[in-house]
Amino acid sequence: MAFLFNSDAERATIFAAAFARELPATPFITDPASVDPATIKYLLTWTAPVDLDRYRNLEILFSIGAGVDQFSLAALPGKVKLVRMVEDGIIRMMQEYVTLGVLALHRDLAGYIEQQRAGKWASRPVRQAADRRVGILGLGNLGLAVIERLRPFGFPLRGWSRSPRSIEGIACHSGADQLPDFLADVDILVCLLPLTPETRGILNADLFKALPQAACLVHAGRGQQLDAEALIEALDSGHIAGAVLDVTEPEPLPADHALWRHPKIILTPHIASVTQPETAANTVIANIRRHEAGLDPIGLVDRSRGY
Ligand code: NDP
Ligand code: OXD
Repeated sequence: MAFLFNSDAERATIFAAAFARELPATPFITDPASVDPATIKYLLTWTAPVDLDRYRNLEILFSIGAGVDQFSLAALPGKVKLVRMVEDGIIRMMQEYVTLGVLALHRDLAGYIEQQRAGKWASRPVRQAADRRVGILGLGNLGLAVIERLRPFGFPLRGWSRSPRSIEGIACHSGADQLPDFLADVDILVCLLPLTPETRGILNADLFKALPQAACLVHAGRGQQLDAEALIEALDSGHIAGAVLDVTEPEPLPADHALWRHPKIILTPHIASVTQPETAANTVIANIRRHEAGLDPIGLVDRSRGY
């Protein structure tokens, strides 16, 4: 039974070498037309192919990314396990990006860039890290890793998740009813939530109002979680002081979109974190071994939760 790889050629070379070394008995296929679809047991892809039904013996659909919102869970046969990517490369890059975003907002980088363009030499108000409360929406693989990277700076840290968590030194909140209390004590909000029906549109006018005056946002979850108009209004009113955005709706963001030009926004094109083929291949191989030993793969999606 074979592994079908549906991603770019550069990653394929690295994955193929790892499979040849670690799982030589599992044929590594990059051209679906070259095999009988009934022999495909594992598929790694970003989106489900339109002809997914052909793979009638498929057991695991591996997402090449950490998110799985691009798949329609309803269209996926119940016997197929959907697995999101949990790998060190993605985690390290997200730690870097969120640290970059939090520090840029903490030290008002957008304001200094504007002053530089105007040739203006002037210092701007500064706060100590101990007076800047950072809150993370989502305490999963990425949220927890980001917390560890931010700890040494001395920001008071808090987090919000669906189920209750206990993390040393972190004020943890959970569930929709605890969201207002969480937000009331957050100066820089970081969104690392998966996109689900519950989190779609969560970064909206009500949420911004629940944050203290001059709070900031780092958004690296999914574009559909953000109401861009509400953000722009909150920035223009001064209630929100700045934002670092990596994800938008739609993507790519049209060149004439207001988010591009807002002086209080730093925007990147969904590059916060990218699956690294060396570490991802190890993860996928380890998961195949787990599956073949009768264990659940790491990153198995709970279909009832949608992530
Ligand atoms: P995980 O599944 O490991 O963690 C998700 C976290 O979100 C969990 O703590 C979960 O709570 C929490 N959560 C989910 N739904 C809710 C809800 N309704 N209310 C409160 N908390 C909720 O995901 P990862 O950390 O691996 O990834 C998170 C997301 O980051 C991805 O789904 C993707 O959208 C995004 N991402 C973005 C990238 C980029 O480049 N911009 C790159 C990679 C990922 P609980 O702990 O209770 O389950
Ligand atoms: C992911 C992403 O989900 O790149 O991995 O957004």
